[in-house]
Amino acid sequence: MAEINLLRALPETKRNIQAREDAKDPAVVAEACKFGEMYFDGPRDYGYGGYRYDGRWVPVARDMIKHFGLEPGMRVLDVGCAKGFLVRDLLAECPGLEVFGLDISVYAMMNCHPDVVGRLHLGSADKLPFPDDSFDCAISINTIHNFDRAGAKRALRELVRVVRDPAKTYVQVDAYRTPEQKALFESWVLTARFHDYPEVWVQLFEEAGYTGDWYWTILE
Ligand SMILES: C[S@@+](CC[C@H](N)C(=O)[O-])C[C@H]1O[C@@H](n2cnc3c(N)ncnc32)[C@H](O)[C@@H]1O
Repeated sequence: MAEINLLRALPETKRNIQAREDAKDPAVVAEACKFGEMYFDGPRDYGYGGYRYDGRWVPVARDMIKHFGLEPGMRVLDVGCAKGFLVRDLLAECPGLEVFGLDISVYAMMNCHPDVVGRLHLGSADKLPFPDDSFDCAISINTIHNFDRAGAKRALRELVRVVRDPAKTYVQVDAYRTPEQKALFESWVLTARFHDYPEVWVQLFEEAGYTGDWYWTILE
């Protein structure tokens, strides 16, 4: 169980926080929370402002393969996989690895990367439609904070349930280390419902029996 940034190889995201805050109203937030076309590929006010494959997950996939000792034949699950870009890159970087994704968004499934068609499941992170011990590794990036606290706890428990070795799990969630970072986050946030300081998250991990690795998405 360790704090480790497995997303360190991602390029920095440019954010116009003032523009997001100015555009934010309950209708925009409600639309974003549908995780549909507007969230992924609509204007930046509603979410990603265009969620397209550009290879940025390739070095992250390499880091994950190394960190978890992933090998051909092993099974990996990405919970909150969106269009399956990381699923695609894990498959490409470790031929023979069996990689699957799950997401709540029909839009993401219907617009997934062509290389992952058939590998993505529609479902919710707090009720994974897989038997116990189905995977060798399970990850969830920037997804679990979209639940309230009780839902986040259920989702963490589900990650642990579906892996053979609970240490081979990774979650990244929205957090902040200072009041200034908290204020920036609150200006930017659209969909996250539970977010807090790292120590509060760590307490939730413990309550949920989550014994994997973790890191934070922090706006600075
Ligand atoms: C911020 S995006 C992260 C996508 C991807 N993991 C990444 O880092 O690029 C959040 C994702 O969580 C998905 N999501 C939201 N609620 C979910 C739920 N209850 N179960 C599964 N996925 C969910 C959304 O559809 C979206 O794809």
